[in-house]
Amino acid sequence: MKMTTRIAFDNMKYHKSRNILIGIAIILTTMLLFIVPAVGRGILEIQFAVTDRLYPAWHALYRNVDEETARRAALLHDCTKKLNEEQHRALIRQYHIRLDREEQGEPKLYHAITGAAVAKHVFGVPSAVESAIRWHTTGKADMTTLEKIIYLADYIEPTRDFCDLRPLRELAFQDLDRAMLLGLEMSIEGLEKRGVAVNSYSVRARDHLKGKLSDHEKRQA
Ligand SMILES: [Fe+2]
Repeated sequence: MKMTTRIAFDNMKYHKSRNILIGIAIILTTMLLFIVPAVGRGILEIQFAVTDRLYPAWHALYRNVDEETARRAALLHDCTKKLNEEQHRALIRQYHIRLDREEQGEPKLYHAITGAAVAKHVFGVPSAVESAIRWHTTGKADMTTLEKIIYLADYIEPTRDFCDLRPLRELAFQDLDRAMLLGLEMSIEGLEKRGVAVNSYSVRARDHLKGKLSDHEKRQA
């Protein structure tokens, strides 16, 4: 195992307790995103602690996403989060990852890129999981259901308190696409307020969803 990969492992061990807590929160949020649309709004009162007990086997069919696949994505999505920029760059070289110009200038996004590579090369995850990890911070146009679930679960998990997430948390359990759109709009607005450059992947993700939802409404009219 190469040194940079070992560093990623060591980092995961060092932050084990925190990683486990955050991981559990994200897994439970992910699981809730599966089940609630299928069983109606009444189930919104579910507590996280009993999610597994109430979690029906057919949820995966409803969302067309496998439970184990979602759990792996949730567990590994931040596996390189605590690496420093130099360590991320070493992984980027090790796995021959090509960054575009925008990505090169945004070290905060590196953990999604290197995390996806470590998940693939070290943990052997399938491409669906790799992609969900890759896009969990920015989103992208035309996301899969799993990608949307991991993006949203990461955004609304219970330890997040940087803004009022209640409307987004409620919407996430009613309509995945509308929740994604709201999450992207909130994220973009927050960056703009802080004077931080907005990643073009997020803008394209938002615009794609706007177009998709608009088309859907026209067809329904
Ligand atoms: Fe992350």
